[in-house]
Amino acid sequence: MSVTDLPPGLSYYSGYLDRTAQEELIGDVRQIIQAAPLFTPRMPRTGKPFSVRMTNCGTLGWVSDVNGYRYQPVHPATAAPWPPIPELAHRAWKELSGYPHPPEACLVNVYDPKARMGLHQDRDEDDFDAPVVSLSLGDTGLFRFGGTTRGGATRSIRLQSGDALVFGGPSRLLFHGIDRLLPGTSSLLPEGGRINLTLRRVTKAVESQD
Ligand code: SIN
Ligand code: FE2
Repeated sequence: MSVTDLPPGLSYYSGYLDRTAQEELIGDVRQIIQAAPLFTPRMPRTGKPFSVRMTNCGTLGWVSDVNGYRYQPVHPATAAPWPPIPELAHRAWKELSGYPHPPEACLVNVYDPKARMGLHQDRDEDDFDAPVVSLSLGDTGLFRFGGTTRGGATRSIRLQSGDALVFGGPSRLLFHGIDRLLPGTSSLLPEGGRINLTLRRVTKAVESQD
């Protein structure tokens, strides 16, 4: 599929990871989940559960519960540090981000066949100079995006297994979400569903250090 006329700062790489790389990354994700079990995030204030389950790798992980959205260095249930970001994901960041410092957080979203994610902005980071790099595995997800304000026109892209999406620059704060999965579109995950990894820089980098 070719996607043309994306807004400035939004880049789509169809088939960025080949099947071998996808399988390697899934193996890495399964190890991450063993060390840092999936949890069900909840909406701030209301405590309503997300339909997506999550975990993280990296020095910081994104969590959400009744107290709010935040990044923290440890798993909310086990209190253990998050496992490291896999090499393949680091490589994707180096190739695609155009940002000179490494990512700190890699959020792993696990979508069961009926899971979805409402339109939102990724804005809990201190540093919006770095883009968000997203890698998709498993069944196709109908990714919806709009502009940087809520309520404007939206478009959708079908994110297939192996696709990469980068949102940075003027698109760093665009509203985005997953309307639904297209079940049965990939054979990568025997259990079905979709896994999405988003790599983020959280803190502002100091020039002399990583
Ligand atoms: C996210 O916005 O955290 C995930 C987007 C996706 O699953 O593609
Ligand atoms: Fe997001």
